[in-house]
Amino acid sequence: MIKYNSEIIDEVRNSNNIIDIVSQYVILKRSGRNYSGLCPFHREKSPSFYVSPDKQIFHCFGCGEGGDVIGFIRKIENTSFKEAVEMLAERANIVLPVLVDTEKDEKIQKLKDKVYNINEIASEFYQKRLLTPNAKIAQEYVKKRKMDMYTLKTFGIGFAGNFDELYQELKNKQFSDEEILASKLVLKSEKTGKMYDAFRNRLMFTIRDIRDRVIAFGGRALDDSKPKYINSPDTVVYNKGRHLFAMNIAKKSGEKSIMLVEGYMDAISLHQRGVHNVVASLGTAMTEQQGRLLSNFEKIIIGYDSDSAGQGATARSLEILQTLKYDIRILQINGAKDPDEYIVKYGSGQMKKAMENAISLIEFKVKKLKETLNLDNVSDKIKFLNELSKILLKVENDLEKEVYIAKFSEQYNVSKEAIYAQLNKLQYSINQGSKILEKTNAIKRNPSKEKIENNEKDTNRENLIISLLLNNNKENFIKIKNAISINEFKSEKNKKIAEKLYEQFEKGNINNILDLFEDEEIINHITYIMSTDFDITDNEKAIEDILNKFEKEKILNRKSEILKKISSGNISKEELEKLENELKSLIVK
Ligand code: CTP
Ligand code: MN
Repeated sequence: MIKYNSEIIDEVRNSNNIIDIVSQYVILKRSGRNYSGLCPFHREKSPSFYVSPDKQIFHCFGCGEGGDVIGFIRKIENTSFKEAVEMLAERANIVLPVLVDTEKDEKIQKLKDKVYNINEIASEFYQKRLLTPNAKIAQEYVKKRKMDMYTLKTFGIGFAGNFDELYQELKNKQFSDEEILASKLVLKSEKTGKMYDAFRNRLMFTIRDIRDRVIAFGGRALDDSKPKYINSPDTVVYNKGRHLFAMNIAKKSGEKSIMLVEGYMDAISLHQRGVHNVVASLGTAMTEQQGRLLSNFEKIIIGYDSDSAGQGATARSLEILQTLKYDIRILQINGAKDPDEYIVKYGSGQMKKAMENAISLIEFKVKKLKETLNLDNVSDKIKFLNELSKILLKVENDLEKEVYIAKFSEQYNVSKEAIYAQLNKLQYSINQGSKILEKTNAIKRNPSKEKIENNEKDTNRENLIISLLLNNNKENFIKIKNAISINEFKSEKNKKIAEKLYEQFEKGNINNILDLFEDEEIINHITYIMSTDFDITDNEKAIEDILNKFEKEKILNRKSEILKKISSGNISKEELEKLENELKSLIVK
């Protein structure tokens, strides 16, 4: 990993107040000593995202994300640690030193810079190449797809010619073979050792990241030959699952909603016709990281193709987007197989209307259900009512439920009363069912419930200990450290945290605690602890209490261990005597 030294990182951190930085993304309100707002990392209606000016950390009690100002930038801008430091340094006018790190890291960084540079040059090369006389087929294709000059420029559309044209260009620009190969735009033949361009005879689309850097390319065949598309593989600067095509433009659209489409051509075609809140997931299954890129929009419209592949992709992407708690809509278009065809046929006005009228997940599910049934058939109608009720049951808001019922009743020509009746029946049977379940499980369930509560208590107490370790002075730290050994922590996370703190304490190294950890879950847990109010008025007393409790518990555990051994009868006389003595001394305590 490439890292700046800790002094400069401290300087960057200290020069960027977390409140100022977070305020650029989240509307913060003061609440007590802290600030709170709607979490930018998941969708929520009431604020559970907290920022502490004292501790210079953030934590969301809803989704668990947390960290310091650098962590915040990393997450919200989807950057590496190093890039986050660089962005914050720039903001604070701090000149970063050239990285003094291991040679290898420096080399990778240099290579990345070269590859960005190569990509930029390649994009320009392909675009110029499209305008040359022997790019006729590509020019005709562009004309056939009605792409205008704005589109060619905005999406860096070009033409990849023959053999090793790009390779020669890059050679002329003094790049080494190693750098050129790292871009993966040029390949080396295993047989002959010759270099040749990876993209040949294809219409090229330039893929840029959210910061407008050229990171990859897609190349479309100019006829029906297969494969239709060739895409850049992952490189030092490109990781397919982390980007959405056209996000660099869509983020500037100023719209509250954004539409996710499947293809380059869908996105391009809509942008050309004035619909700018569109990005493409490029035919692959959505990843969570891609999903997070959409978090600045209020509504996500899924506008995938109407063919079965598109429908499959819709389902998979829905899963990801649902876990991110977005307000999701599904585009419904008739008379066209995809958004591109639709906007070409019906114009951008119709397209925008269709986007406004995109249906909710509930409506989408009911629509899918209806497609498999014939409502003129009695048994199908019963099935429809039954499944419909199951879907409606999940709508928590009563008013919303009513609206849906009215809508579905009209849309599918079933009476409201029939829907209500079925819904009540279902609700009743569920209630009965859970009552029966409660009875039969009553005996079994109680002990485990107790156990869970116990665990929770333990964890809470441990969290409090960690919090005391984090907040307190040397003396108290040592008190706790001497009384509680690592192995006495039951939660794995707390154990790891305590271990690190104990170890680093010796080195006098616990100022920037979050820097000691790399595991994100641990960092989130620490910010959780740091943001939690444990209601302590007297630190000394809190420590005393907790150490007492620990001591008592230790004794109790030891007692039951001894009693167990004694009652097993499986021990020698001497040992028995020894244990009995120990037991006596413990009881005296
Ligand atoms: N795709 C791919 N490889 C293929 C086919 C498709 O990578 N062999 C990806 C491309 O990113 C493509 C997307 O899946 O953009 C959607 O596929 P499709 O709808 O077939 O492509 P379009 O971009 O709509 O292209 P066109 O309209 O020219 O057919
Ligand atoms: Mn298409």
